Amino acid sequence: MADPAPDDLAPDAASTRRERHASTARTAVLAVAGGTALFVLGSIFIDTGLIGHADTNRDVVASEPAAFSPPPMSSIPAGPEGDAIRRGMQIFLNPGTNAREFVGNSLACKNCHLDAGRKPDSAPMWAAWVAYPKYRSKNKQINTMEDRVKGCFTYSMNAQDGPSGKPPPPGSDIYKDLEVYFHWLAKNAPTGVDMEGAGYPEPTLSAAGYDPVRGAQVYSQNCAACHGSDGQGRQDINGRVVFPPLWGPRSYNWGAGMARIDNAAGFIKANMPLGQGNRLSDQQAWDVAAFVNSHERPKDPRQTGGR
Ligand code: HEC
Ligand code: HEC
Repeated sequence: MADPAPDDLAPDAASTRRERHASTARTAVLAVAGGTALFVLGSIFIDTGLIGHADTNRDVVASEPAAFSPPPMSSIPAGPEGDAIRRGMQIFLNPGTNAREFVGNSLACKNCHLDAGRKPDSAPMWAAWVAYPKYRSKNKQINTMEDRVKGCFTYSMNAQDGPSGKPPPPGSDIYKDLEVYFHWLAKNAPTGVDMEGAGYPEPTLSAAGYDPVRGAQVYSQNCAACHGSDGQGRQDINGRVVFPPLWGPRSYNWGAGMARIDNAAGFIKANMPLGQGNRLSDQQAWDVAAFVNSHERPKDPRQTGGR
């Protein structure tokens, strides 16, 4: 049976995605290069659900101050619960070491959920904590927090290429430690409301659509200095990731939320270039997201149909 897909796509959209990522198709798309043609393509993707509208709090205006601040690190309590919170935080910051078995790439949770999962408009974990369990129309079932985290291990962390070949098993201490960390981050957060700063914002898609060719130029001017002109990022002399890879075998796979152009555009608009969130225009964010996601990356594990 196919794994339930907490990470988003309806099965029919997933098969459309497979076709889209056939490299010949992509070459053709790039060769077309005309904004109009790409806009038409973009509309088709919206119709097929490939550019879906995520169910998190998308109408947040990025410039509004976030209403919620998580507690300072210094207030993590002593004792067994504090120890678990600290373990969860360490997994979040460095899963490649602290959840090694289940990581198949060079990424870490904090690469996409910035400031250790604290930053608004970066899918912060305090907002996520109070939003689960929840029904997701995309996979037509109630998703627990464990289901959701399993999704990020499966797709964003590409667990299929890790030592165990799969995400942490149900009930694993890895989920427990992460959850107690998120619970602590959400101290005094309200339940039953969409929190401001949850998820990623959604930049406006103009009539010009998005265009990986325009995006290539945005990339070389704003991103390549850190992520490399080959998109592979950079490691220090000890092999620790300084700038994470955006595509290729060590990045997120095709099933990941970030492989969707709308999610990537929202993340990039609010958070990149690092430390200069909201510097790019909405147009630049869409174009560069399309460019990043026009490159090869590990396959969606659902493509085997066997898991
Ligand atoms: C390559 C980027 C990336 C990495 C790495 C990543 N995630 Fe995510 N994560 C996303 C995206 C994209 C979403 C969807 C956000 C949305 O729909 O607004 C998401 C959503 C989530 C959510 C739900 C958030 C919400 O508001 O509903 C949780 C929880 C989560 N991730 C946990 C993790 C954990 C734990 C790790 C590390 C094991 C991780 N993520 C690694 C990109 C990433
Ligand atoms: C100053 C260096 C710097 C620049 C410039 C920069 N980034 Fe990043 N980027 C980072 C770092 C560092 C992270 C990981 C953040 C963390 O772990 O706190 C990151 C994370 C990311 C991620 C999520 C993780 C991954 O590997 O997929 C994406 C996507 C991304 N950047 C895209 C871009 C794009 C597109 C641009 C240009 C508009 C850009 N970045 C410019 C440093 C940079």
